[in-house]
Parts: sequence; structure tokens; C-alpha cells
Amino acid sequence: MAKKFETALVQAGRNPTKQYGFVNPKLTRGSTVLYPDMATKLATGKHILEPVDIYGLCGNETHFALEAAIAGIEGGSHAQVTSSGLSAITVPLLAYLKAGDHLLVPDSVYGPTRTFCDGLLRRYGVDTSYYDPMVSAKALRALFKPNTRVLFTESPGSHTFEVQDIPALAEVAHAAGAKVFLDNTWGIHHFQPFTKGVDVSIQALTKYPGGHSDIILGAVVVNTEEDWRWLRLGALELGNYASPDDCWLALRGLRTLHIRLKAQEAAGLQVARWLAERPEVARVLHPALPSCPGHELFLRDFTGSCGLFGVAFQPEFSAAAVVAMINSLKLFGIGASWGGYESLVLPTTGTIHRSEGTGAFEGNMARFHIGLENVDDLIGDLEQGLAVLRTA
Ligand SMILES: Cc1ncc(COP(=O)(O)O)c(C=O)c1O
Repeated sequence: MAKKFETALVQAGRNPTKQYGFVNPKLTRGSTVLYPDMATKLATGKHILEPVDIYGLCGNETHFALEAAIAGIEGGSHAQVTSSGLSAITVPLLAYLKAGDHLLVPDSVYGPTRTFCDGLLRRYGVDTSYYDPMVSAKALRALFKPNTRVLFTESPGSHTFEVQDIPALAEVAHAAGAKVFLDNTWGIHHFQPFTKGVDVSIQALTKYPGGHSDIILGAVVVNTEEDWRWLRLGALELGNYASPDDCWLALRGLRTLHIRLKAQEAAGLQVARWLAERPEVARVLHPALPSCPGHELFLRDFTGSCGLFGVAFQPEFSAAAVVAMINSLKLFGIGASWGGYESLVLPTTGTIHRSEGTGAFEGNMARFHIGLENVDDLIGDLEQGLAVLRTA
């Protein structure tokens, strides 16, 4: 019988017989691995695609424990930990693409992904085109070129939360001989990438898996031996791994991922629905609400949500008024990232870059992340914040 999510999280990456009986996997730090003789060293070096202690930069038991756990959550066969969520995006792009290739990226992509595509990737001869995240399969087909190697997706999109039709878009990409990458950070656990046509799934472990705003970490998950070769060898060529201390903290975070995600999903929905009823709000961009583009795809493809969503205020409220409201909030920290235990807010108008004209909603916008505080306290804080918005 397949283990349910909660059970899998409790058991993932643990092997008490290798841990001197202790409950948790060991935290192993190290660079040099010593071998008893040259024959053993030469034999070990052949296992670069396997979780074997070869040299610190090829990972150790702490990395391998986390990788096994993340592969399980994503439903893939192999995972590679990387030094950040952003490097979980850049490493597979560099591993799979070469000069002369073309890449398709949604207009709603996480900003630093766009910066990487327009900067380093372009300098290395890879050409990126951006597409409307709500593109139909037919319209997407027309955007493919003979040299398009990767269709990048991010669902829901950063800041504007458009939910993409991943299975339909993946079908087009595969017919054109391209790989499908998905930044699945928002959809962790609730979107199973490999049952929906994704080849390479990306997780910023900094967010919900870490859960305590104290690590920067990423993971890339694949589901075939061929993809594992591309990913693993690319990551090793780039020398990109992560501190075992951060991996250990991520493993610790995973044990409570289920209850944090459940609580933050419920609280996020409660706050989002409350905001949707407010006269100051034009639209709540939460995939579980009908006002979000792609809501019907969310209902079809996801089993739940998390605590991150956007809000477009009525056009009568200026960007300065939204900032005044944000400054007045007592329980929402002003800061980037999300997935921790604390609530956060950021004004998003003017901070997001779109080249294809998508993501323009009614008024000035903000992004909220709902933490583990009491929901009535959060709503009370927002209520006084909206009073500031009205009078600013
Ligand atoms: C959707 C998404 N992907 C990737 C990242 C990058 O994660 P990290 O901060 O670990 O580099 C972020 C960070 O905010 C994100 O929101």
C-alpha cells in the first residue's frame, strides 16, 4: 500500500540502522572521503549517478536522505539538491540547453528566472521567448521553433497566480521534441508533476519544506534515468550542491510540512475570502478562488493550495495608499520569500516585469503570505490597514 503524505514525511530519508538507532538522519559534514586502497577508490568513482560517498561535492548521506524525501514528495525517481531555489532553476537550464537552442518561458515567471534567461543564458547563445501563461495549446504550438528545446512553466505564476494548463502544454512540447520544466514551488504536494506531463520539476526548499525562514535551498526532481543523467552530470559539472547543515534543517522542516501546509492553506483561504468581500478590493488572485485566471485548471489539477496569494485593489487607491496600508500592518512583515511560519506582505505594482503585456489587473497590487498566527488577529490587522488605505 502506498504511504499517505503524512506517513511518508515522517519516514522519509530515515534509516535507524545506519543512524546508530537515533530517530533522525545524521548531519554529516565533509569534503574528503578516505578510501582503504586505490582499487576501492577507482570502483567508487564509477557510481557518480548513485547516492554514494565519493567526495563532499558529490553529496553525502545527509544530502541523499533529503533527496530521497523530496523525490518522494514530488513523485519522481531522483532528486538533486541545489544551493538555492534559484539554482534549482538555473542548474537544469544550463544542463539541458546549449548555444543555438531556444527556450519558451511564461510571462508570469519568477523575476530572477527572467533575469537569468535574458542575461547569462542569452550571453551563452540561448534565445528565450516569453508567452502568455494562459496561452492555448494551439497558440503555444505556433511559438515553437525547430530549435526549441525546453518549455518552462511556473504554475501558478509569480505575483499574479495564473494557473497554467500543464498537461495540454506538455503535450505540445513533447510533440515538438522539447522537455517540460515546471517551477512547482507553490504547488508542493498538491500538484503531482510527473502525472501531468512534466519532465523536470523544481522546488525552492527555502519555502514550505524549510518552513522556518532560516535556510536557502533548492531541489530538482526528474522521473527517468535519461533525465537523471542530464541533471546529475550537469549539477556536478557546475559544482552546485548545498551545505549539509541546510539539508538537515530541511529534513527537520519536512516532518511538520503536512500540518503547516494544511494550517496555512486554511488560514490563507480564510483571509483571501475575507479580502474578496471587501469593497476596497477589486480582485483576489488566489488559485482556489474563481477570480483567479485558471481557477478551473486549479480545481482539475491541484488537490489544495498554500498561504500565498495576490490582491488587486480598486483602481481609486494609489500605489502610495497601498504602501501606507502596508506600513500600518503590525503582523505582516515586509519582506521577500514565503513559506515560513510568519505572515508577510509586499507591494507588487511596479516591481514585476512583464514583456508580453500579461498580468495587468484592475488596480495597484500586493502579495500576501499567511503564516501560523491566529487568523482573527490577522484579519483584525488587515481591517485597520484597509482603514489606512481609505484615508491615505
Ligand atoms: C516561485 C519561486 N521559485 C523560486 C524561488 C527562488 O527560491 P530561493 O529564494 O530559494 O532562491 C522563489 C523565491 O521567492 C519563488 O518564489
